[in-house]
Amino acid sequence: MKKIFYAIFTLLLLALDSAPAWADDLRPPLLLTGSLQRDNQELSGAWTYSKDLYRTGLTDINGWVAKSRMQRYRDVNVAQEEAKGGAGFFEFDMDRGPVMTIPGAWNAAQPELRYYDGLMWFQRKFTPRELKGGRAFLRFEAVNYRAYIYLNGKEVGRHEGGFTPFVVEVSGALRDGENRLTVGVDSLHDAQTIPTQITDWDLYGGITRPVRLIYTPATFIDDATLHLERDGRIAGALQLNGPNAGGQTVTVKIGNLASASVTTDAQGRAAISLPAPRGLQRWSPDSPTLYDVQFAANGDVLRDRIGFRTIAVRGSQILLNDKPIFLRGVSMHEEEFGPNPARNMTEQAARALLTEIKHNLHGNYVRLSHYPHSETTLRLADEMGLLVWSEIPVYWTVDWDNPAVLRKALSMQAETVYRDRNRASVILWSVGNETPVSAPRTRFHAAMAANVRALDPTRLISAALLVERHKTGNEDVTTIQDPLLDQLDVLAVNTYAGWYGDDALADLPGMKWDLPKDRPLILSEFGADALAGYRDAGMKKFTEEYQAEYYRNTLAMAARIPTLAGMSPWVLKDFRSPRREHPLLQNGWNRKGLLSETGVRKQAFGVLADFYLHMGGKTGQ
Ligand code: GCU
Repeated sequence: MKKIFYAIFTLLLLALDSAPAWADDLRPPLLLTGSLQRDNQELSGAWTYSKDLYRTGLTDINGWVAKSRMQRYRDVNVAQEEAKGGAGFFEFDMDRGPVMTIPGAWNAAQPELRYYDGLMWFQRKFTPRELKGGRAFLRFEAVNYRAYIYLNGKEVGRHEGGFTPFVVEVSGALRDGENRLTVGVDSLHDAQTIPTQITDWDLYGGITRPVRLIYTPATFIDDATLHLERDGRIAGALQLNGPNAGGQTVTVKIGNLASASVTTDAQGRAAISLPAPRGLQRWSPDSPTLYDVQFAANGDVLRDRIGFRTIAVRGSQILLNDKPIFLRGVSMHEEEFGPNPARNMTEQAARALLTEIKHNLHGNYVRLSHYPHSETTLRLADEMGLLVWSEIPVYWTVDWDNPAVLRKALSMQAETVYRDRNRASVILWSVGNETPVSAPRTRFHAAMAANVRALDPTRLISAALLVERHKTGNEDVTTIQDPLLDQLDVLAVNTYAGWYGDDALADLPGMKWDLPKDRPLILSEFGADALAGYRDAGMKKFTEEYQAEYYRNTLAMAARIPTLAGMSPWVLKDFRSPRREHPLLQNGWNRKGLLSETGVRKQAFGVLADFYLHMGGKTGQ
């Protein structure tokens, strides 16, 4: 019965699939994809800030309207007002507040903010250019977790979700000369947020990715996408925004390879279809060819760098450009190397991390866990040639039966797909991580799987599932008992035998797996902690020797799984987690990294690098 339900539900959503990608109500009203190449004014840099732990800048006690003396977003020069004297007074001053460098989480900015978890107000002033009939937008690449945006004392936008971009039009709210931008950021999570309040990673509250003021003509290309079809054609769609969006001729140029022109419909939309271009160099990890693509309409140009490839499954194989590929990867959090990371993923920081995977581990794949990473990282994966698993933080457990929470998850998926669907590196959309099986949970994930398939039918769907182990006699068999399997293209499991629990490392290679024979499997996580430099031949847990021996034995076990199509061991480098508080071994760090937080390689790094080298790290795709 359940399968019929899922099938009907999926068919319903997949019926949308035949409709062009714009036929979904989850599309944000404004995308401004390709904004990095647009005419913009950088607003990252020095912002003042003001703590507001009890949120009195938004709502006063008893739910009353906030007192004006606490309303951080007011367009007021406090010093000037105070100089006038009188009965009024203020309990904030955003102009004379302390300064923080944005982007970056407040937790890393000041010792007293290390575990601050609540509402923080930020302000910066800027002087915009004259619009001369054009338009202006604020684009935030990420604010964790809720954002309240005010310009010159007026609310202009809000957003929920810590890892996806959002755009606010400010054409009508800007004034000549100096403008006051105030942003309230609330990091607090609860049982109805995604993720909820407990995760195995750090708080990282704040404006964690760049903020830009973007200028466009009155009518502009808001979004444009292209991909390679299995039959060699290039297909896509675009959307114009503005008073003259309808009936516009849009030219599409793909390097010197191909060009076309399309005309938008009354809603400013157009589908694109080009015959298979001769001489197309397909994108792959070994040959990450990117084309300069240009969409031009009505005096506006949207530029992107796009790689063209296909991804599919056949039986238990993953096919990249119709050839089987093994995903030699590792999992990674969005956290730069260093003793005090602020989740400020600059290109340099991302390159340092991805270089370890590509060139030192001989990898071709990275699991960007457990949330959408920075666009900077995705574009670098395109450039360097790393395949990507992307996920939103439906992690451990969320409020499965709550329609509002499902809507949040579906919106986060849409915001991620619209941002990243031109990234050749992204091949997998994951719908969850280690979520305990229950009927409401499986319904939630099935809706997510159908949603992301309708948003993007060109990529594969997976989820990092839990395994079950059954001992029958002296047989110890690992299986996946999960009704969600039917909704996935690629199976994936997190397994920690040899770390969590009492398995002897020597027993790992002989572990038996009972898996579907016709589906590709990824070991999406396995790992063990080690404190870099803690050496002891006695094989104690947390030593480098134990972690290395764990990898040798787990890799031996993995090599015996006939349907194994890839792996992303947990985790590239040690990362911050408030759940890891052993005073000698952890100190607030999860130590499963193959590298320490400052980039010191542990013994296990070499074990995995050798394994990948011998798996074709030099030759295979
Ligand atoms: C889980 C989880 C990770 C976590 C890891 C660990 O598999 O997915 O987010 O960090 O286990 O226990 O270290």
